[in-house]
Amino acid sequence: TLPKYVTPLFVLRTMPRAGGGPSGVDYYEIAVRQFTQQILPPDRPPTQVFGYGAVADAASFHYPSATIEARVDRPVRVKWLNQLTTSSGSYRSHLLSIDPTLHWANPPGGTSGRDTRPEFTSTPGPYRGPVPIVTHLHGAHVTEESDGYPEAWYLPAARNIPSGFARVGSFYDHFRDEARSRFGVSWDPGTAVFQYRNDQRATTLWYHSHELGLTRVNVYAGLSGFYLLRGGATDLPAGVLPRDGFEIPLVIQDRSFNADGSLFFPSGRDFFGDVPPGGPFIPETDVSPIWNPEFFGNTIVVNGRTWPSLRVEPRRYRFRVLNASNSRFLMLKVVTNPLASRPASAALPLWVIGADGGFLPAPTRVDSLTVALAERYDVIVDFTGIPAGTQLYLINEGPDEPFGGGQPGTDFEPADPQTTGQVMRFTVGSLSGPDTSVAPSQLSLPGFGRLGSASRTRRLSLNEMMSGFFDAPAMAMLGTVGADGIPHELHWSDPVTENPARGATEIWELHNFTEDAHPIHLHLVQFEVLSRQPFDGAARPPAPWERGTKDTVIALPDEITRVKARFDIAGRYVWHCHIIDHEDNEMMRPYTVS
Ligand code: C2O
Ligand code: CU
Repeated sequence: TLPKYVTPLFVLRTMPRAGGGPSGVDYYEIAVRQFTQQILPPDRPPTQVFGYGAVADAASFHYPSATIEARVDRPVRVKWLNQLTTSSGSYRSHLLSIDPTLHWANPPGGTSGRDTRPEFTSTPGPYRGPVPIVTHLHGAHVTEESDGYPEAWYLPAARNIPSGFARVGSFYDHFRDEARSRFGVSWDPGTAVFQYRNDQRATTLWYHSHELGLTRVNVYAGLSGFYLLRGGATDLPAGVLPRDGFEIPLVIQDRSFNADGSLFFPSGRDFFGDVPPGGPFIPETDVSPIWNPEFFGNTIVVNGRTWPSLRVEPRRYRFRVLNASNSRFLMLKVVTNPLASRPASAALPLWVIGADGGFLPAPTRVDSLTVALAERYDVIVDFTGIPAGTQLYLINEGPDEPFGGGQPGTDFEPADPQTTGQVMRFTVGSLSGPDTSVAPSQLSLPGFGRLGSASRTRRLSLNEMMSGFFDAPAMAMLGTVGADGIPHELHWSDPVTENPARGATEIWELHNFTEDAHPIHLHLVQFEVLSRQPFDGAARPPAPWERGTKDTVIALPDEITRVKARFDIAGRYVWHCHIIDHEDNEMMRPYTVS
């Protein structure tokens, strides 16, 4: 077992800009590389990871990546480079096992699809070729060519890519041409140039890897970072909220490690226990040999270090919290004793002031905050008046397995208090200067417009497909719901069924026919959460902390979750479950706005 609280929290740096962009635009050149980082305590071996960094500044490469600081209404242009190559210019293969039998970004087998060549279907080893990359800015209001479409991936410009490999995904060339005509940029081999409009509310966005069938392994290997959008009428004036050293973004993730320090990620389906070990792969079955339905790690990593510790002053802090795990729902609470029996009593409240899309209508005080995959919450914690030397702990009372809704200790077993039930420690020190920020109970937050009435309601389904061969899930899916209430499951590759007209405001009903909660994310939009309604019950309003705008919503089992969005840029986008293990195995669909 690993010792906890022996490393200070790593405060993420700001991503350095590059020279050479057009005027009026902030320009970056950001690469994906492989490198070594000390994630475990200092007496343990370091870990090989993938991470983003500024091309011209080797020291900026980190997992999780440096934070892009953007201003509302000032565009950001990023040249994203795939530099997963060795010093001699050969490609690197993946740190983790890639399942070649999923529908995936598939360089050897064509632009995407399942690899059905005999060598893969009879002895399905993990794919060892070059790694496809494409990056999505999660929560961004953006034109399609810059959105990071899962089939717009590209390989590194490596010297030894076998002939016959597709070097780019099926949408890459189309989006490259569109980017050229829209922004006058060119995409060299191994790159894509995206431009973010930033014409949305000030908020906390994040960028991460987003390739068809590979997102879970690429994000797990380290490819994520914050993108903070500030300024304008939807932000608060400087001085109102804690800033500088008192505003700290936190990426929380679960991970597992091998004894040599390397990341552990299952390399076979028998990890899951319900497919016969030694022979999970039988060519004619519907069970993929490596993919597992949900990954749960046994350590908690915050900003790239296991169970870190933060010295705080007795004043207010602004934490921008992101859950970037694969499958784990977090239920966060600040307590005095991290081993207290669950549910523990809260030592300090969490004041939620913002969510995915920007500030809430009003600050909301909670003892416990559920944070699903990809959700962001902007939270004030007030340590004012706490005596120096006091230790407080951020704990997690979510489950060590898929979340089905309900309360810890009543409806499910909370995470192990010894391990994944703990997140980080705060040690209170002394004040370096007065805290002039506004108390959260006194804050008045900038307002924002509400959407008008919807012109259309779509009924959509969330499903899990059980294997026809084993007592195990084969894939997770999305689909439509017929007038008879029956779901009609669709694959990623099925024709588009959701096609809002440009400018239309629509209600999307998410009918969850599975036993688990799924965090559903729509690209392009920030939506309003309208209601949740059990299949056989009455609708109830969203929680107070869901009353701002969001891009990801928890759809609970046996319920209809309703969101309302305005689709105002024409293009091809996606919506999907953000349990990234699900997203990678069919729980994602394209949609178009035209
Ligand atoms: Cu954060 Cu399509 O994803
Ligand atoms: Cu899901």
